Amino acid sequence: MSKIKNCRFCNDELNQFMSFGKMPIANAFITEQEIESEYFFELAPSFCPSCALFQLIEQPDPKMLFHENYAFFAGTSILMQKHFEDLSNKIIEYYDLKPNDLTVEIGNNDGGMVEYLKNKGFNHVGVDPSKNVADAASRKGVNMLNEFFNKETAARIKKEYGEAKIFLAANTLAHIPDINSVFEGIDELLTEDGLFITEDPYLVNLLEKTSYDQIYDEHVFIFNLTAMNNVCKQYDLEVFDVEYLNTAGGSLRYYICRNGKYPQTERLSQCKEKEQTINFYSYKTYMLFKENCEKSKNNLVSLLKKIKNDKATIAGYGATSKSTTIFNYCDIGPELIDYITDTTLTKINKLSPGKHIPIYDYKYFLSNMPEYCYLLAWNHKVEIMEKEKNNYSGKWVTHIPGVKIFE
Ligand code: TMP
Repeated sequence: MSKIKNCRFCNDELNQFMSFGKMPIANAFITEQEIESEYFFELAPSFCPSCALFQLIEQPDPKMLFHENYAFFAGTSILMQKHFEDLSNKIIEYYDLKPNDLTVEIGNNDGGMVEYLKNKGFNHVGVDPSKNVADAASRKGVNMLNEFFNKETAARIKKEYGEAKIFLAANTLAHIPDINSVFEGIDELLTEDGLFITEDPYLVNLLEKTSYDQIYDEHVFIFNLTAMNNVCKQYDLEVFDVEYLNTAGGSLRYYICRNGKYPQTERLSQCKEKEQTINFYSYKTYMLFKENCEKSKNNLVSLLKKIKNDKATIAGYGATSKSTTIFNYCDIGPELIDYITDTTLTKINKLSPGKHIPIYDYKYFLSNMPEYCYLLAWNHKVEIMEKEKNNYSGKWVTHIPGVKIFE
């Protein structure tokens, strides 16, 4: 796909403020034989000065990202599963869901929230374009459509299942370049009093933490409330509540309804107020972020080089999609990171995208404990620290919120 100049939502001219350089596909873990044909694109963020939507100027064709070998299985994180179960329970209790009310979830991966609703006998359908994860959900008995979601898919769901009382998307909306097609689909499908609940990494957290590694091919958008309100307005929808979440490195959950159907909450006003202190329409905001990224990169490279000069071993913990941005932007390869450990079958014994650091399973990690572990899956820190407190006694390296060593 070629670079775009205009906003994917409102078509006004975008402002590109930096580039992370040539980047491989974040989740394309490869074999030695595939190195020659590895695909690269330019990873560069921009913002729309009209609607405040933060977006990439180039995204590889979504068919290259979401396919039969999608590397990410949501089921690998216990905390994320608990998070999804909690939201499904909240929907049932708080919004008084009846077994016949339809819930549609897009990007529900190998189960998602609809899996929990299915287990309790609720009417549901999941929609995911990646065949391997959609098949995994089907095998658990989740009603699935292995497709990209858009207006046409919505019309077919409506014909087969009826209108949706609840429409869910967790870490999905940010992945879909044709944002208007999703909102047209929601407009087609949602009942008059229906709810659209969506959550994604939050731009405010990204700017505050300099978590630039949340920027990679799949995240074609990083949302904020200001931009989400602008998009909703076009479809006579409105955000009536928001919730700050610790997941995915700091996310915002938006509760959206048709205009005026639910009262707006105090939490929403507070979030709006906070966002008014950050100017999402101004270059200045993003130039500061760019400087912080460069500082973070220099600090990280210096620290890793120093550790290596002292002849210590360093392993990466978690072959995350985020780590592809870090390693390629900072030009860090096997000369600094000995190996990466990960529990995902589709990543084990492959090479990391672009920099070709070997990925080994957890057993290998247990018998080849490094002196330093770089916490690449920093968004799963609580879970990992709990798991490793009696296993790993070496030092940890992190770059969030700043580059440092901790024990
Ligand atoms: P994510 O940041 O995109 O959720 O990816 C997390 C990656 O980290 C995923 O490949 C699984 C891996 N991981 C481990 O290897 N061990 C763990 O304990 C956890 C929580 C994740």
